[in-house]
Amino acid sequence: MASFKYQLSNRIGPVTVEDYRRLARRRIPDMVWSYVDHGAEDQKTLLANRAAFDRYAFRRRVLTGNEATDLSTTVGGQRLDLPVLLAPLGSVGLSHWTGERGAAQAAERAGTVSIVSTASTYSFEEVAAATERDHFVQLYPWADPRSGRHDLTLALIERARRAGYGAMFVTVDVAVPGNREVEKRLGMGHPPIMTPGRVLNAAVKPRWWWNFMRYRRMSLRNLTEAAGARAAVDSVGAQLRMMRAELNWDDFAWVREQWKGPLFIKGVVDADDAERAVDLGADGVVVSNHGGRQLDGDVATLDALPAIAARVGGRAEVLLDGGIRRGSDVVKALCLGAKAVCIGRPYVYGLGAAGPAGAEHVVRILREEIARVMTLIGVADLKELEPGLLLRAGEPVPVRALSPPPG
Ligand code: FNR
Repeated sequence: MASFKYQLSNRIGPVTVEDYRRLARRRIPDMVWSYVDHGAEDQKTLLANRAAFDRYAFRRRVLTGNEATDLSTTVGGQRLDLPVLLAPLGSVGLSHWTGERGAAQAAERAGTVSIVSTASTYSFEEVAAATERDHFVQLYPWADPRSGRHDLTLALIERARRAGYGAMFVTVDVAVPGNREVEKRLGMGHPPIMTPGRVLNAAVKPRWWWNFMRYRRMSLRNLTEAAGARAAVDSVGAQLRMMRAELNWDDFAWVREQWKGPLFIKGVVDADDAERAVDLGADGVVVSNHGGRQLDGDVATLDALPAIAARVGGRAEVLLDGGIRRGSDVVKALCLGAKAVCIGRPYVYGLGAAGPAGAEHVVRILREEIARVMTLIGVADLKELEPGLLLRAGEPVPVRALSPPPG
């Protein structure tokens, strides 16, 4: 018989991704929070990403005898314990001093990999040296503003290769930076605008403040080795200048020539674009709208997924990101054709609330939720997840001949 557990207070720690969000909100200063948690303009796309999951319900079958215990899969040639990767996020060191390094360590402890952003506050080499497995790397195909040449991009590709990264993700949905008005209002622009109120708002988060001043993880360390505010402003400025709207498919083809490992295109929501990328040699496609941070009014990623999966799913690995906050979201995305998903903000909530252990716990929460949902709908194997397991939420179940129960 189970014995009682005695504790002095009835406060329990975070048990959902949303719990971590609330905790992180309290520990991260408003300026940084505006960068992490908000989207572009009216945040329609940010909200649409979430809302799309709610339009589906599961078609649950009973007495199947199926239990989902093994959630392992492969992505980009790497075996993962669950179909969830950490999406590339820039400037994670602003939220927690361990930044992208802490995120990658959390990922591998939870049995998955992190995709390290070009705009990270730990360099590719620093993350690689602090981790055991080969993580993935994200690349902005930058060009020199004067010559249009790719020297820096080539150097980054070479550094990623030498540091041992497995797959490369080329992000293509940032022709120009998104219009993130909440950031502007809070002074989180380039350069950031500090006011006494904003300094005070950060200073009253003593743990964050202390680590921020001590470790100074604010500059983009793939562009500069220098730490501190000046380096941060200079490196972000360099990044903004190198984002060029004239980059095109030739640039993607060029990256394909340079990178010999698995290559993914990230930021696609159109099946024609997905097909073109695969024709040019992409091994995978990430259906993504940058977490609603770029085009407001963009299609929700879950709505874009089926057409892309139908078009290229047989030839490429299709991943999805945007709005994943529950294991049930992951299962729905896999039913609609994704091989795996990426999470962005959720792991920053974990980091901001409790450091790498928090980020690891976020992934573990999702793993447990995925396994429970699959078992409850009667599916043991990720490969059996298919569109027929979903219904339109709020609509009567269609009268039709039912296929046999799964399994
Ligand atoms: C991002 N994202 C992103 N993507 C990328 O390719 N390179 C980058 O440097 C960044 N930076 C970045 C910063 C922050 C604060 C956020 C929230 C997002 C987009 C990211 O990879 C991913 O597409 C979204 O975060 C997925 O949506 P969710 O999971 O955050 O809802």
